[in-house]
Amino acid sequence: KFFEPKEQPLKGKKVIVTAGPTRERIDPVRYLSNFSTGKMGYAMAKAARGLGANVTLVSGPVALAKPAGINVVDVESAEEMLQAVLAEYDDCSIAIKTAAVADYRPKNQMGQKMKKQEGDAAIELERTTDILKTLGERKQNQLLIGFAAETNDVLHYAEGKLKKKNADYIVANDVSKTDRGFGADENTVTIVGKNDFLKSYPSENKEQLAKKVLADIIKREGL
Ligand code: CTP
Ligand code: CA
Repeated sequence: KFFEPKEQPLKGKKVIVTAGPTRERIDPVRYLSNFSTGKMGYAMAKAARGLGANVTLVSGPVALAKPAGINVVDVESAEEMLQAVLAEYDDCSIAIKTAAVADYRPKNQMGQKMKKQEGDAAIELERTTDILKTLGERKQNQLLIGFAAETNDVLHYAEGKLKKKNADYIVANDVSKTDRGFGADENTVTIVGKNDFLKSYPSENKEQLAKKVLADIIKREGL
């Protein structure tokens, strides 16, 4: 053999992965969230570990086992996730933002359980901080990989997010079919990347897919 692929291309490198949903509290007993289960994020963290990285996994509330050999930081809200990621960001080599971060949170978090009233009710919402965009603005030499969940016009929206957030790659997830994407064991993704990189993957088990996605990105980056 003339060429041996490196078995641990990420050895000695620090990788941050975020996974799962966030929960935005309404009152002590209620929250806003989404259907993310964390499977794809945990698969990405394990794939990075498998390539030799020192992995910090910033995880929203999920029902998954803590993966061996990975430093897991549990968080609840988008704000907590932001702070946990920023604390690890400056000296990391790769940040992978798989988490399904809530876009809105209740403007006022009630200290006591809200009581129902006659008729309808409304909860006033405000935007959370866009963590990926914040990382894009602070980027030095980090490689920044985002995810995108779309039900339609997948490539169009993914390319928009790549530019708007100054990411290097966006792994776009078609969640229009109920057996793919959120909660499923399989996923169908397309990567869009800087300099017109585009690669689609056939539907596959999330653990296998995570390994391929990461391996392809690392190869393209010459790592
Ligand atoms: N993201 C983030 N912080 C947020 C919202 C999203 O870091 N407050 C990240 C996600 O982790 C993901 C990427 O941005 O890596 C895209 O998330 P997505 O929800 O698909 O896109 P949004 O920019 O939130 O746009 P929209 O939901 O309106 O499609
Ligand atoms: Ca969103």
